[in-house]
Amino acid sequence: MRILIILVVLLSLSSLTIIKLKNSNGVFKRLPTYFPKMDIPEGNKITKSRVALGKKLFFDKRLSIDGTIACNTCHHPAMAFADNQAITPGVQGRLGTRNAPTLTNVGFNSTYLFDGFLETLEKQAIVPIEEHAEMAFNIVEITKRLKSVPEYQKLAQKAYKRDLDPYVITRALGTFQRTLVSYQSKYDLSLKNKEKLSESERKGKDLFFNTLHCTQCHNGFNFTDFSTKNNGLYPVYPDSGRMRVTKLETDRDLFKVPTLRNIGLTAPYMHDGSVKTLDEVIRHYESGGFPNKNKSPHLKPFVLSDEDRKNLISFLNALTDQKFIYRHTH
Ligand code: HEC
Ligand code: HEC
Repeated sequence: MRILIILVVLLSLSSLTIIKLKNSNGVFKRLPTYFPKMDIPEGNKITKSRVALGKKLFFDKRLSIDGTIACNTCHHPAMAFADNQAITPGVQGRLGTRNAPTLTNVGFNSTYLFDGFLETLEKQAIVPIEEHAEMAFNIVEITKRLKSVPEYQKLAQKAYKRDLDPYVITRALGTFQRTLVSYQSKYDLSLKNKEKLSESERKGKDLFFNTLHCTQCHNGFNFTDFSTKNNGLYPVYPDSGRMRVTKLETDRDLFKVPTLRNIGLTAPYMHDGSVKTLDEVIRHYESGGFPNKNKSPHLKPFVLSDEDRKNLISFLNALTDQKFIYRHTH
């Protein structure tokens, strides 16, 4: 029965077609020109009441079976909607296997989850709600639970002109997450000549772009090419990554190239949170990574001085957007 309900919800979501967002609704007005337009599903245009409803749901523990876990339990605004634990426990202390990723600029992603499994935020919202090691609940029960809350009914009517139901819940959560747009890091402001990078940050930037070619994978406005790659974290991975979805050997141990925006706030790192600091991340790349048959040919060992490493970390920290954090914590 539960599976059937999920299927019905997913099918109704898959009929959504994608339209381009016009930069007209206020939320994205001042985006730098190097940002693309966000694809917004038709019928789920961003409006103030939809954002308000999605935000309320995102912070509501009643979305979990025992009322102890909200989305923000693992996606903290102060940590750029990531978390500082390798694996954050869900209900009853249950542990999953993956690190909670940042939701910075999540609305620009073309696929979701480390293995690139789902295509829209609306579909993705059902995953943590149902996941045994996260909220362990289901969206129909949530609807029943929240239907009796007058404020939710009022907001649902205002936002979508219908009662609170799975359609409204998934779309409102999607809408709120599409507003998590970060574009005012020190690095962005330096491109507009509104701030000046320090000498250390400038040297680190040069290493990142020109010497080490980190941009072979972490490129473009969001410091990711949105692909899945193997960066040599392990010789043998306990989690087969993208292969879980495609069953293809060529996709074994591939993980989504993460954005590096707000990276200074989102330690620990990698899909399993196994790398504790940026210093350790850089030392990993210096080693060239472990041999793995699907390791990207772009990963080659290199040698950095302590000074170089410090500069590269300064640059990565310049990708932190304090205005974004302030906006979502006040
Ligand atoms: C117990 C911790 C936990 C809770 C609660 C949780 N998440 Fe997550 N979230 C994760 C983990 C871990 C992943 C990575 C999962 C994977 O890749 O398989 C993730 C991934 C995501 C992603 C994909 C991001 C990307 O770039 O691929 C989105 C979006 C997301 N969560 C939104 C939510 C929303 C919305 C809620 C509440 C309804 C929520 N999460 C609740 C831990 C959590
Ligand atoms: C071949 C593609 C590729 C190249 C080149 C590359 N990366 Fe990565 N990077 C990845 C992938 C894939 C991950 C995620 C791996 C995982 O989750 O297990 C990652 C993860 C990271 C993370 C952790 C992000 C997080 O949120 O957990 C940082 C920081 C990082 N890379 C920085 C760099 C730097 C600095 C360079 C250049 C020295 C670089 N990367 C070069 C593909 C690449």
